[in-house]
Amino acid sequence: MTDTSRRALLALAAAGAPALAAGAASAQSRPSTRLDAAPPRAGAPRVALVTGSSRGIGAATARRLARDGYFVTVNYLTNAELAAGVVRSIEAAGGRAISRQADVADPSAVRSLFDANEQAFGGVDVVVSNAGIMNVAPMAQMTDQGFDRMIATNLKGSFNVLREAARRTRDGGRIIALASTSMTQKRATHGPYAATKAAQEMFAGSLAKELAGRRISVNAIAPGPTNTDLFRVPPQVRRMAAEQIPYGRIGEPEDVANVIAALCSGDGEWINGQLVFANGGFF
Ligand SMILES: NC(=O)c1ccc[n+]([C@@H]2O[C@H](COP(=O)([O-])OP(=O)(O)OC[C@H]3O[C@@H](n4cnc5c(N)ncnc54)[C@H](OP(=O)(O)O)[C@@H]3O)[C@@H](O)[C@H]2O)c1
Repeated sequence: MTDTSRRALLALAAAGAPALAAGAASAQSRPSTRLDAAPPRAGAPRVALVTGSSRGIGAATARRLARDGYFVTVNYLTNAELAAGVVRSIEAAGGRAISRQADVADPSAVRSLFDANEQAFGGVDVVVSNAGIMNVAPMAQMTDQGFDRMIATNLKGSFNVLREAARRTRDGGRIIALASTSMTQKRATHGPYAATKAAQEMFAGSLAKELAGRRISVNAIAPGPTNTDLFRVPPQVRRMAAEQIPYGRIGEPEDVANVIAALCSGDGEWINGQLVFANGGFF
């Protein structure tokens, strides 16, 4: 039997076992919900690393995963105090977290970030490649600097994080990359940003296959307009965006974090290699 077929058989055999959420509830004693209902594994806390989690969707994700029992590494670029605030709020709710500065565009900084997480918590089960920036302008006016920084953060940065995740995520884990609904819309001024986000779907799809046999699901999540610093637009643009969402409002960071948490739960295991829209029906 080849190594590959042995691993495939082992994966099949393991399919009936409790999935990722096993142990998630062990860090905090609170009643199980449907999403984290898998039985805790004594002494084995689950660990999540979320890039760009000092604010916005990343901060909401860090808090939500901590609430689900994960020990969390919070990452930031410049806003140390905001990241420390996320850690404090997690600790105040009975969870555990650390914060670390790292520019995802720098491969050695990303390695150090994963090292710090390992030193604090022993390993990683969930990696959310969330850090991102949006520079939009008509193509004719887009600067080299604006374009290059976006490629470095969103494309190379996410690659750096996903590569490290591919090397270090423990069997049964989850890897999630933040795409954007804008990748399907071909909006004027959004071309380069949307291109960096479309790449996340490609990254997730092929990485899911590369990790075959290890019960690690890899997906891209595509939020729509979400109430964060990144979506800083004039009130009329915000209103127009809300009108394009059947719920009549734009998303809150927690709306997206809830979907990420669902993918990270035991019940999310069978969603793999997909682009998942988390946009309230934005069209
Ligand atoms: N908001 C939306 O409408 C929307 C829609 C679709 C997709 N998304 C995607 O969702 C993700 C999160 O967006 P958001 O709206 O939550 O953004 P945000 O509120 O602007 O927060 C961005 C986060 O990323 C961090 N960051 C930026 N550059 C970084 C770098 N080079 N290295 C490490 N961290 C870095 C920031 O850290 P500092 O605080 O230190 O600067 C911050 O924590 C992004 O990938 C974005 O493309 C957002």
